[in-house]
This record gives sequence, C-alpha cells and structure tokens, in this order.
Amino acid sequence: MSADEISTVLDTAAAFKAVGARAIKKVPALRGKTVINLFVEPSTRTRISFELAAQRLTADVINFTAEASSLKKGETLRDTARNLEALNADIIILRHGAAGAPHFLSQFLNASVVNAGDGAHEHPTQGLLDVYTIRDKKGRVAGLNVTILGDILYSRVARSNIWALLKLGANVTLCGPSTLVPRVFEQMGCKVTYDIQEAIENADVINLLRIQHERQRQTMFPSIGEYTSLFGLTKARLGMTQPGVLIMHPGPINRGVEIDSEIADSNQSVILEQVTNGLAVRMAVLYLVNGGKGTSEIMGTVGGSKSRLTP
Ligand code: CP
Repeated sequence: MSADEISTVLDTAAAFKAVGARAIKKVPALRGKTVINLFVEPSTRTRISFELAAQRLTADVINFTAEASSLKKGETLRDTARNLEALNADIIILRHGAAGAPHFLSQFLNASVVNAGDGAHEHPTQGLLDVYTIRDKKGRVAGLNVTILGDILYSRVARSNIWALLKLGANVTLCGPSTLVPRVFEQMGCKVTYDIQEAIENADVINLLRIQHERQRQTMFPSIGEYTSLFGLTKARLGMTQPGVLIMHPGPINRGVEIDSEIADSNQSVILEQVTNGLAVRMAVLYLVNGGKGTSEIMGTVGGSKSRLTP
C-alpha cells in the first residue's frame, strides 16, 4: 500500500470510530454481503474484531473453525475456499500459518481475500491499527522515533508495522537478541541495535513483541530468564525513556517476559486502545474492499443527501 492508501484507511477508520460512539453503532454498508472468517490458526483479538466489524456493517458473518472442519479430513485450503465461495461468500478473511496463503487464495477466488496474518510474513490490519493508534495519540506519524523490541524475525506484526511506519515517515529502530533481529532488516530502512538503552532512550513509541515460540524451529536464545534480563521492558528501563513514551503491544502479552505487568497496565500503555482501534480499522478495511467511497459517506451525507450508511 502507498502512503496515500494507508492514510485513506486511517481516515476511514476514524469515521467508523465516530460511528462507534453513536447510540446505534450499526451501518448497512455490507447489508446482504457474506463475510467468512477462515481462521486456520488460533486468534482472540483479530477473529473477534473482524467478526464484530462485519456485524457492525450488517454483513452475514460465518466463523469457520479449522478444528471442526473438513481440513481435518485432508481437504486442501484451495478446495475449502472454493466451497466457501460456492456458498456465495463475498469476503474471505484468512489467518493461516503459511506465508502467502491469502495471496494464493486471491489468485483464483472472485471473493475478496483479506489477510488476517500469514505465518511470519504480514499482519496488515495489525500494522494499520498500530499506526492508527500512534497517529491518534501523537497527532502524527512522520518524524516519530518508533522502536520495535523483541522477536522481529518471526513476527508478521513487525513486518507490517515496518512497511507502514516507513511509508508514513517514521524512524524505525529494531532491537532484540541478534538471532531474532538480523541486520538484514537494515535493508528495509530500519536501524538495528542490540543495545536496549540506545533503542529506548529517544523513542516516542515502544512496540513490544512476544517471543513467537510457535514459529521458531530452533532455540534462538539461552533462556526466557536471560531474554527478560536483557530485553524485557522493566520499570527500571522505563525510567530511561522520554516522558510520554507510548507503550504498545499487539497481544497476546507474556506478562513478566517482554513487559512488566505494571507497565502493561499503566497509563502509558495503549494496549487495550489498540484493540478498540482495531475494530474501526477492520470496519474500514471491509468497507473499502467492498467498494466504499469514503468518509463523507460514512458520516451520513453524500452531496447533501442522506447516505446509505446512515443507521
Ligand atoms: N494481535 C493478534 O493478532 O492477536 P490474535 O492472535 O489474538 O488475533
């Protein structure tokens, strides 16, 4: 996505957030459309957020659970998806352990395919909701120093954040164990450091990532205890940061590992606001994928007449 396209999603999300503050939070933008949540990997936030987003847009929503499906009987992802399309699915939201799975489906489906996280590759709506949260709290993204701390190598959240942040003009620093933050990320335009003090002392935003044990094929550092002592965000380390630094985490959190419990629950933490913003961002994505026109339509008037989105 270009910077302009990202900004369109963020502006559209802002309009949907305003709709979320109304007494009636539903708009008929996706009335008559069928949205299928095809989650082949576990999820709490993303799945529920997409489900609620589709419901707020008045779509019919089906939640597909891999464990209770014919995928367990050997059916391929391609056949499963084609069967869902045969049931007139308009939008298929896919989370999958294999990088590229959403792109693969998009090549032969007529339905729109939305990536809800594919392996260690990308998690686009998480990247978008993170930049939305930064813009909302700081008033801008350009020129901010954003540090992403933790397991970068196996993180789809990191990759989607890096793309979005750099396109919007932020300075991105990556920090963590050298095995999890290879210098190859410098080629994307990020600064890489293994010195946590250097990484956090001038940061406007610190986005923490958990260790993605489920994707690591070998032990990448000696122990969790050693990771926490070298890279965990403790109260002592928070004292090295600038006042007003924003603490972010995509979840799920491993309290006491990458972040002290007290910091996760502090006023500087916007972890739960990220979740709230995720709903508006996912409404925006579904609306735009379905051919939505823009913020004026969402806010209730188009050319002076009442919009089809007015509750
Ligand atoms: N942030 C995120 O993707 O969380 P879930 O795995 O719970 O969806």
